Amino acid sequence: MADQKNTQPARPVHGGIKPSDLRALGLRPEDVLDFSASISPIGPPQGIWQAMKGVELAAYPDPDSLELKEALAGHLSRQTNSSQTVSPEQLLVGNGSTEIIHLLTRAYFPTSYGITGGQTGGSALILTPTYGEYQGACSLQGAAVSTLDAGPPPDFLWDLDLAARLIESHTPRLVFVCNPNNPTGSYLEQADIDKLAGAAQRGGALLVLDEAYISFVEQPWDSLAMLERDNVVILRSMTKDYALTGLRVGYCMAAEPVISRLAAYQPDWSVNGLAQAGALAALADSDYLARSRSEVARSKGFLVQRLNALEFPVPPSAANFLLVQVGDAPSWRDKLARKGMIVRDCTSFGLPQYIRIGIRSLPDCQRLIQVMEALA
Ligand SMILES: Cc1ncc(COP(=O)(O)O)c(C=O)c1O
Repeated sequence: MADQKNTQPARPVHGGIKPSDLRALGLRPEDVLDFSASISPIGPPQGIWQAMKGVELAAYPDPDSLELKEALAGHLSRQTNSSQTVSPEQLLVGNGSTEIIHLLTRAYFPTSYGITGGQTGGSALILTPTYGEYQGACSLQGAAVSTLDAGPPPDFLWDLDLAARLIESHTPRLVFVCNPNNPTGSYLEQADIDKLAGAAQRGGALLVLDEAYISFVEQPWDSLAMLERDNVVILRSMTKDYALTGLRVGYCMAAEPVISRLAAYQPDWSVNGLAQAGALAALADSDYLARSRSEVARSKGFLVQRLNALEFPVPPSAANFLLVQVGDAPSWRDKLARKGMIVRDCTSFGLPQYIRIGIRSLPDCQRLIQVMEALA
């Protein structure tokens, strides 16, 4: 466990490729395959463009995303095996789930002077290595951040008894756990999350369960049952689920008081009209997620087999990305980028021996493997 005082804004490192990176490499967007962001490999569902064409661009979008919340409530209630249903009042839609992460830290660390100095007096516990935005958002609010590192590869599991003790003794306001975890792909079971949620209840914390990649898990347990607790918020990303990366749509589910608290910090109209219409059309494609999962499974099987043949260890991943132990990650990232294959160097996660490969279609993965075989 490490304690850090955040006195400087530290912007997180992300996957994805920016035009400035491409220019530096002398590449055009059409020259590259981006394996550094992990999104559905089958592209956006049919019907999205048609739905967006009907949007009145001269009108303000619904600041409450009401129609989308109603459609999400129906979609989620159909998916759950438990008696739990989800109501629109238990939902908040955001401009990507990243916006919701920032709403959480603003709502739960509200008295800060922010990055200009001072601390809120509040703290957060983050189970690491993980998505950098949690730390970034906490830092902007001046919150003190503690981290608990996962155990060694290949399983990268946390000592959850220790996590529970830390939550109860340090009483953080927010506890972040990503499941399945980015970048390790490890997936905690219901009993594990229950343990964290119970400790959070006793310690007065809100447990933030980030399920950005849950739609790609083959046999997930029914996490909606967690909504019976009033101290758990579940984050989801339609960006990942439906390849709506450029539109930016995410949502969270929680007890109504938590949702109202977060909504109070959200700027009106932050989810634009095109995003709301596109997301509604995506939800109408009822077998899309199963098709996407099956393409992930096909490509993943191929990648694991061929990466193992190259003698690169690949820890098991429940998600739509693989962590691959290549040795010198920055050097592999650079040499693959020069060939138009963009992968995520995991140095910023504290894993400088690993790259992360977001799973794309089988033909794209075959091209990546060809290049890796030539460079190995
Ligand atoms: C674990 C995790 N949560 C949330 C996000 C944010 O996704 P978005 O803001 O596109 O919904 C990401 C993006 O990489 C992620 O890896």
